[in-house]
Amino acid sequence: MTKKLVTGAAAAALLLATTIPAVAHGEGKRFHESKERHDIMEVFGKGFGKISKIMKGEEGTPAELPTIARKMAEASSKTKASFEKDTRGMEGFTEAKDEIWDNWDDFAGRLDKMEQDAQAFAAAAETGDMARFGPAMKQLGSNCKSCHDKYKADLD
Ligand code: HEC
Repeated sequence: MTKKLVTGAAAAALLLATTIPAVAHGEGKRFHESKERHDIMEVFGKGFGKISKIMKGEEGTPAELPTIARKMAEASSKTKASFEKDTRGMEGFTEAKDEIWDNWDDFAGRLDKMEQDAQAFAAAAETGDMARFGPAMKQLGSNCKSCHDKYKADLD
């Protein structure tokens, strides 16, 4: 190994030592805005988790579906506001990439669409008609991954 490589490896090791533990130990310390938007996002993640358990008959009953969907719709109406503050360069943990505020119109448009889909999902859940519930859930779920791929850092 050349000297340059050794120095590079040492620098990388040092970098890992300082960055990895913060991530591995449950996300380090989030600053206020980071925590708020994360908690809103968790409502979607947990909502889908509960729904999936109900569908598989593992936990809960279909009677809970409208309430879960309504909570997700409520969260969706707060999501955009939770990202409005540009937190680029702020100290503390976040999975939000800087690109969010570089491309705010695209990002905000995605959240508007998710909100519409979440409202439609809650309305479908309210009817108790599973033939409407399934497609509406799929429609809501179609928003998640493409945005995460572009705007959420994959740290865990
Ligand atoms: C317009 C972009 C966008 C959409 C749409 C979106 N998310 Fe997120 N999501 C993010 C960003 C950005 C973060 C990271 C926030 C932070 O750490 O500050 C995040 C974080 C999360 C997290 C916490 C981190 C993790 O991976 O466990 C969960 C859970 C989550 N989102 C679930 C969802 C689900 C489910 C949907 C779809 C119903 C969804 N999100 C739709 C951008 C989005």
